[in-house]
Amino acid sequence: MAHAPHHGMARFKMHAPHSRYFASGKFGRLFPTLPPLRLHGTSDPDLRHALIDLGKAGGIMDPAHADNSGQDKDNDTIPAGFGFLGQFIDHDITLDVSSSLERQNDPEGIENFRTPVLELDSVYGSGPEATPYLYDRDGVHLLVEERHGIDQLPRTSVNAAIIGDPRNDENLIISRLQLAFIQFHNAMVDALAANGTAAEHLFEEAQRLVRWHYQWIVLHEFLPLTIGKKLTDDIYTGDCTGGGRLFYHWRHEPFIPIEFAVAAYRFGHSQIPGQLKVNDDFNGGAKIPLFDPNEIGDSDPDDLSGFGVEGSRRYVDWKYFFATSSTTPQPTKHIDRILAAELLDLPFVPDPAHSSLAVRNLLRGHSFGLPSGQAVACAMCIPPLSKKDLEHAGPFSEATPLWYYILEEARVVAGGEHLGPVGGRIVGEVLIGLLEGDRMSFVRQNPKWTPADEGLGTTSDFGMADLLKFAGLA
Ligand code: HEM
Repeated sequence: MAHAPHHGMARFKMHAPHSRYFASGKFGRLFPTLPPLRLHGTSDPDLRHALIDLGKAGGIMDPAHADNSGQDKDNDTIPAGFGFLGQFIDHDITLDVSSSLERQNDPEGIENFRTPVLELDSVYGSGPEATPYLYDRDGVHLLVEERHGIDQLPRTSVNAAIIGDPRNDENLIISRLQLAFIQFHNAMVDALAANGTAAEHLFEEAQRLVRWHYQWIVLHEFLPLTIGKKLTDDIYTGDCTGGGRLFYHWRHEPFIPIEFAVAAYRFGHSQIPGQLKVNDDFNGGAKIPLFDPNEIGDSDPDDLSGFGVEGSRRYVDWKYFFATSSTTPQPTKHIDRILAAELLDLPFVPDPAHSSLAVRNLLRGHSFGLPSGQAVACAMCIPPLSKKDLEHAGPFSEATPLWYYILEEARVVAGGEHLGPVGGRIVGEVLIGLLEGDRMSFVRQNPKWTPADEGLGTTSDFGMADLLKFAGLA
């Protein structure tokens, strides 16, 4: 079945109904006129029960389900590190701590605690003056501490990481990725100082270059891997004759659409493997589980879980996550309906009814009144998946929760290697839109800029492996 976008899509550019939230800069909607997902002839409590059945441990999203035997496949086209970079990017742009899983939520009434800009407030906080505890004495370098003989994130006496977003200490890998960005900033400061940049400009200049290199990676490495190069190019290089952003528009500042934060961008939950090798020392170099329910917060260096984050052997050897050497990094999992079993029973959620991340995503989508995947596909003039394509969704095979639809679309259309046309367009338009809406991004300041322009030894094919090398971590 072909899923190419219809040429008639261009008309939406002029006439798509805007979210009434599109002027607000908070959360909003891409498709405000589409009705919420309903199950024909079903009451709201029954719909919630059906969503819980779809996402619960043992259900059709569980690798152990009989229909998924042999289907939980590796995605050799996307190294495992990009799953965690995806989580890191999310933590830069969205944080909803106030919506409820139990009742209906209005996106305009929900505060986004992150700025919807790819500017690393999760790393820089509000800068050296407003958040001095993130910075070294010079107010230019970000704070790094040595404990257990290795560089670590700074922590309080109760082991809480002192960083711009606490979610970046949620598991060992994202925690070390946060540290890697801090070390990239510090290396940038040192490189600029060595090149003769005046002391009073060092912080601003290093911050600008770190942000631009990160934005470069989002645009030229992360998005092509996640949504495909062609769709990335279509959205980024579109002009008045076609392509470009067709659905994501704002009046004053970009906002985060709920179709992105609560559905499409949660695609990454399907990519994360439940067990990963982090280095050659930890657990004798064997794979370790993403988290161990018995040992959260434990700082014992011999603890084998990936969740506790301290200890001399608790570091990440990045060659197992990104192509920093001739070693082939571990792969992500295919983007499809199957999630790692570890994510279907989150150890840090005390209520067992809501401890499956899939259940949380599905109920969160319902609580925001998200439309079905089919309705969104039709609104984008993309032929929707067939009932047969979605047969595993049971009662939802004809009107499918948007998040689940986008996962299965990736499997049906792209063999699970990247997102399909609906999911890919939402993710691509929002991330590219955030760059185009940010007056300080390289895309706005100097669209012809490449990392090679800076004379720092970085080249125009700069990617995560180069960032880690520049930071002295690979
Ligand atoms: C170890 C891996 C991960 C874990 C344990 C995790 C866990 C969670 C949890 C518990 C939530 C809140 C769910 C809710 O109550 O609605 C969440 C939200 C979210 N996650 Fe993940 N996640 C992981 C990886 C990822 C990845 C790889 C991505 C994308 C590439 C991602 C994207 C998101 C998004 C967009 C949200 C909504 C954020 C907001 O608006 O507050 N996550 N995740």
